[in-house]
Amino acid sequence: MQWTTEQRYTRIEDISEKDWKELKKQVDRSPWRQTYHIQPETGLLNDPNGFSFYNGEYHLFYQWFPLGPVHGIKYWYHTKSKDLVHWENAGIAIRPNDEIDSHGAYSGSGIEHNGQLYLMYTGNTRDEQWVRHPKQNIAVMDEQGIIKKWETPVIDHVPDGYTDHFRDPKVWKENNTFYSIIGAQRIDKTGCAVLYSSPDMKNWTFKGEIQTDLPHFGYMWECPDYFTVDGQGIFVFSPQGIAPDGDQYHNIYQSGYVLGNLDVQTQTMQHSEFHELDRGFDFYAPQTMEAPDGRRILVGWMGLPEMAYPTDEHGWAHCLTLPREITIENGRLMQRPVRELKNLRGIKMEASAQLHDEVKTFDSFSGTAFELVCSFEIQDADSCGIEIRVNETEKTVITYDAIHQRLSLDRTYSGALADSEYGTVRSCFLDTKHVTFHLFVDSSSLELFVNDGLEVFTSRIFPSEDCTGIRFFAKGGRASCQAVKWTIG
Ligand code: FRU
Repeated sequence: MQWTTEQRYTRIEDISEKDWKELKKQVDRSPWRQTYHIQPETGLLNDPNGFSFYNGEYHLFYQWFPLGPVHGIKYWYHTKSKDLVHWENAGIAIRPNDEIDSHGAYSGSGIEHNGQLYLMYTGNTRDEQWVRHPKQNIAVMDEQGIIKKWETPVIDHVPDGYTDHFRDPKVWKENNTFYSIIGAQRIDKTGCAVLYSSPDMKNWTFKGEIQTDLPHFGYMWECPDYFTVDGQGIFVFSPQGIAPDGDQYHNIYQSGYVLGNLDVQTQTMQHSEFHELDRGFDFYAPQTMEAPDGRRILVGWMGLPEMAYPTDEHGWAHCLTLPREITIENGRLMQRPVRELKNLRGIKMEASAQLHDEVKTFDSFSGTAFELVCSFEIQDADSCGIEIRVNETEKTVITYDAIHQRLSLDRTYSGALADSEYGTVRSCFLDTKHVTFHLFVDSSSLELFVNDGLEVFTSRIFPSEDCTGIRFFAKGGRASCQAVKWTIG
């Protein structure tokens, strides 16, 4: 279905109860509704926003167009949790119903200040000529969860030298000063990020552009985030317009980081190369927060813009990833599923086998929503791996090719396909004799953590409902395999 501009700008407040119920019914019938991931009740979810801990709870908001699986007028939807894994829907947080955000309450972040949660976000506005005027706005949430917008933007124009692609403020506090990093596009149509500072979250001063070694790296940088882990600065952003290169950059848009410490006075940064955060098909616009115990936690959008997904015909699209802990070990960024995910574990099963050029199943190892940890010790096998969500014709395959030292995720036969224009296999280099796969599988997704967080592959998959099989294999020789599985839900 083609959506007209008018339909995309229809607000949830303007549709009838009957139409709303119809849409909900259509979504509820979808076989691909997730069981333990944050997903929209209806319509389209995109970026995680305002991820924070405030008043004893984690708060995680997301971009939401309620009325269909398209990028229409965006709201902020609010979810909250005491443990990062059981999330409660708390309703709409920011409605794009004012002059300062008339065409969408776009992405932004949250920070506690004066006992309240300050949400800084981009108000997307357009004038009669349909020219965009991005505003940076504040909404404040109190202890009762009541959110009030400030009437005037705190940054109401784009500084000279940048286009109207200027959005997604991420705020942090350093030495009593607030900083906000904003994604931007220079007038020569190259992407970058800029920095503002403020003593009080109200008065903001433009400090300048972040000086990186990536002056020509795509045409727009969305959703920047800057933080430190054990003193190491990490700058995460989502550049658009990067061409594929070897195993990298095969999705429509990318998401990654450079390691480097930002000098907020000079906006300079000596940094490493850019690395993708995730090797999978569906990952974009991540945002991080610091947990009360000091851990750095990241959540991403398990989806990408401008792509068709099989749930579109069911009136909804996308979900968020599970939260991950970010650490720096031996100079490498590691990502592990948050330890609280153990709270979701149900029935436990264990199995092990010596595989010799064979494909094996284990009794009771099956399911559509589960956690699985599987280690292979490679003796002389050429390759080994796991197949999940298997039936007669469908399967999702994870392979470690020991000859070429490559790890790959293949969703060619996973069932219904998301846009296959961008390929159906993702790979990366991995040199190991011992490979561990840690999987979180839900009705329509797979998150694969490899070798204790060294690599992550995140992917939506849309298998038939009877795809419950799990198989383990070694080809061209021997490998031993040990597996533990827990049901979830
Ligand atoms: C990234 C993004 C952001 C923007 C938001 C709008 O996916 O394009 O740059 O704020 O989505 O929904």
